[in-house]
Amino acid sequence: MKRIADLPGPRGLPILGNLLQIDASSLHLIAEKWSRQYGEVFRFRIGRRQLVALANPETIAAVLRERPDGFHRTERLSAIAREMGFNGVFSANGDAWRRQRPMVMAGFDPAHIKSYFPMLVNVTERFSRRWQRAAAAGTAIDLQADLMRYTVDVTAGLAFGSDINTLESEEDVIQAHLDKIFPALFTRLLAPVPYWRWFPDRKVERHVVALRRAVEGFIAQARARMSNPPRNLIEAMIAARDTPGSGLTDDDVAGNVLTMLLAGEDTTANTLAWMIYLLYRHPPALARARDEVSRVRLDRYEEVSALPFIDACINETMRLKPVAPILMLQPTRDTEIAGVQVPKKTLVMCLMRAGAIDGRRFADAKAFEPARWLSGAQASSPKRVSMPFGAGPRLCPGRYLAILEMKMVMAMLLSRYEIGSVATPDGGEAREHLAFTMAPVGLRLRLAEKARASAPLARSA
Ligand code: HEM
Repeated sequence: MKRIADLPGPRGLPILGNLLQIDASSLHLIAEKWSRQYGEVFRFRIGRRQLVALANPETIAAVLRERPDGFHRTERLSAIAREMGFNGVFSANGDAWRRQRPMVMAGFDPAHIKSYFPMLVNVTERFSRRWQRAAAAGTAIDLQADLMRYTVDVTAGLAFGSDINTLESEEDVIQAHLDKIFPALFTRLLAPVPYWRWFPDRKVERHVVALRRAVEGFIAQARARMSNPPRNLIEAMIAARDTPGSGLTDDDVAGNVLTMLLAGEDTTANTLAWMIYLLYRHPPALARARDEVSRVRLDRYEEVSALPFIDACINETMRLKPVAPILMLQPTRDTEIAGVQVPKKTLVMCLMRAGAIDGRRFADAKAFEPARWLSGAQASSPKRVSMPFGAGPRLCPGRYLAILEMKMVMAMLLSRYEIGSVATPDGGEAREHLAFTMAPVGLRLRLAEKARASAPLARSA
């Protein structure tokens, strides 16, 4: 069997390894390039830390399925999450993860999301009013910032029962603090040494403190409203925390509140931003999507949750622009991956997009062609290759919510407005920027109101 030292990989420097070849914000692009050069299993180093990178979707799926026993999230991620106050189901390992996961699954299951639907319609109506004002004034919309107001309002409504309404707030909104966490987390994850423990970053600390206060506010409000049985995730967690022997602490509850805000904000908003950008650049697909939404009532769950062509657009967007292009893991014991001996705790980097844009697996792999996802269009299962929500026991529990939010926003946007333009800062293609999640840089959306709204959002609208 091969050892890591036998694997191909980019040549590095004695102490720094490949550090100088890596620009963190495009780490995924560099690693994908290396995978084309060195193959589906290769090695590189960040400082003294040795990484094994995987690009084969079958190998990646096998590793992801071997959780929680064989692999877990990295120890550094868990430590940073503890320091920054979001140690929850995403960063937890072992028994702590086992205790939290079922509660989170129940909080985001389809039946629960369906019962939240009337509120989702309300939040979408507010979002539409915000865009109506921008359309009437002819102002350019900061696309990602607006989408994040929507996703945070939805997550807080569903998971905490709190109507925070950042969509209609002009004050200092919680997103201003959330926005700082992922970049700081990402820099710390990649750093060769934990420099922030010796030189604390006061700015980041201020945002962490502000978020801690907001989280305490959500918990206090939920405690005041508690019902039996619990109505949402935060109530279920508080009830479990108060049950003797549950093993859940105040920190677990707070850590999960922040985890949900973080996990639900950027991911869904950036996927939507990518989708709006891609559709704008592909007029035939845009026309087909508009035609589909023009035939649905947006206050009907069954109709909005169906939308097969929008569903295909979502899948195609996530294939080309997965907002989580890299997943990092560590084996819990000495193991073997694709014929290579991998010692316990080695950093394993899964390149989630490599297979999804490989011409041997998809015809015209780089092209945006949503129709390839419609039933019968593809012989083999593309879902096995494109895994934007991960795979196995730690598969994203927020995926039903994310997909419903995306369908709702697309239906509102395309049935009520004309997309005037989706501009990038330099007029070229949107740049990919990785800071834990992968976002398009600086998209500006211009909207015009349609002459006649063809689909009412709610019966009273
Ligand atoms: C388009 C939107 C989204 C994408 C692409 C996405 C993607 C992912 C991915 C790739 C993972 C890691 C899965 C793995 O390790 O196998 C994950 C985990 C997770 N996601 Fe999402 N996500 C999205 C939306 C959401 C939303 C809306 C929420 C909740 C509000 C959420 C909550 C979580 C949580 C709690 C985990 C950790 C699960 C665990 O470790 O057990 N996600 N997501």
